Amino acid sequence: MAGELQVMLVAVQPEQQRRGLGRQVLQALLLQAQELGCSKASLEVAASNRAAIHLYGALGFISCGQRSGYYRNGEDALLKCLDLKQIQDRTDNRPE
Ligand SMILES: CC(C)(COP(=O)(O)OP(=O)(O)OC[C@H]1O[C@@H](n2cnc3c(N)ncnc32)[C@H](O)[C@@H]1OP(=O)(O)O)[C@@H](O)C(=O)NCCC(=O)NCCS
Repeated sequence: MAGELQVMLVAVQPEQQRRGLGRQVLQALLLQAQELGCSKASLEVAASNRAAIHLYGALGFISCGQRSGYYRNGEDALLKCLDLKQIQDRTDNRPE
C-alpha cells in the first residue's frame, strides 16, 4: 500500500546481538520512512520469536492481527503495526 512501510526482515549476526544494533537500524528505517511520507509501518513476526517481539514492542509496534499457520512449520504470524505519525523525531544518532 502506498505510504506504508512493510518491514520484511531484520537480522543481526548472533555474536553481535543484544548490543542495540537491531534497535538502531529499525529506528533509522522508521525515521526515514516517516520523512519520505509514510504514515504507517507493519510487519509479521513468528509468535515464538520472543527477541523480535520485544524489540518491536520497545519501538512502539502494537498487535494488529494474526495469520494462523502462516509459516511452513505451521506456526502463526503476529501482525505488528506502528503509526509513524506518533514516533518521536530522534536526533541522537544524527549528524549535527
Ligand atoms: C530480533 C533481532 C533483530 C534483535 O536484534 P538485536 O540487535 O539483538 O536487538 P537490540 O540489541 O537492539 O535489542 C533491542 C531490544 O529488543 C529486545 N530484545 C532483543 N533481543 C532480545 C532477547 N533475546 N530477549 C528478549 N528481548 C530482546 C529488548 O527489548 C532489547 O532492549 P534492551 O536490550 O534494552 O532490553 C535479533 O535477535 C535477530 O537477528 N534475530 C534473528 C532474526 C530474526 O528473528 N529477525 C526478526 C524476524 S521478524
